[in-house]
Amino acid sequence: MKSPVLEAIYRRRSIREFTDNAISREQLHEIIKAGIWAPSGLNNQPWRFVIVQNHDIKEQLAQQTHYGHIVRDANALIAVYLSKDDIYDTVKDIQSAGACIQNILLAAEALDLGAVWLGQILKNKLEVNKILGLTDNFDLMAVIALGHPAHRNQKSKRKEFSELLLKEI
Ligand SMILES: Cc1cc2nc3c(=O)[nH]c(=O)nc-3n(C[C@H](O)[C@H](O)[C@H](O)COP(=O)(O)O)c2cc1C
Repeated sequence: MKSPVLEAIYRRRSIREFTDNAISREQLHEIIKAGIWAPSGLNNQPWRFVIVQNHDIKEQLAQQTHYGHIVRDANALIAVYLSKDDIYDTVKDIQSAGACIQNILLAAEALDLGAVWLGQILKNKLEVNKILGLTDNFDLMAVIALGHPAHRNQKSKRKEFSELLLKEI
């Protein structure tokens, strides 16, 4: 089956090494716009975003995760938040954030950029909020590291389809 969306889904890999080339503000806004166009329960749109390109702030964030080298190497970071004041159903709002983050990854792929979803940093999410100057009304869902891919040699695999499809009735 040939479709640009399917091609992007299958081609996308987590990119963890980047060149020094910059990502433009226009590209970052386009990527977030793609995130905003994700589905959300009741069209609640509970997501909020912080873009980080400042070197010193990136360094402070790098110190909050085991994956600091990726954070340092990335040209830009997008922190994706849930606005706690806007939650209508915790599970559905968190699911919506996941859909938003996946759109962000696919948009980066479509713009020929690389991205990786960083979740390990959530263990220090309160510290991240302090660094970004946000109150705890914002719940960190992920930090996305973005840049121009240094290479595209990443390999990944998936479980067998037959193992995952429980029934076809
Ligand atoms: C919820 C979540 C958290 C993740 N956290 C990290 C992380 O902290 N560091 C990292 O390098 N990759 C992280 N990843 C990326 C996964 O390791 C990656 O998606 C998986 O190995 C499959 O590889 P692929 O994205 O190239 O297909 C995370 C992915 C998800 C969905």
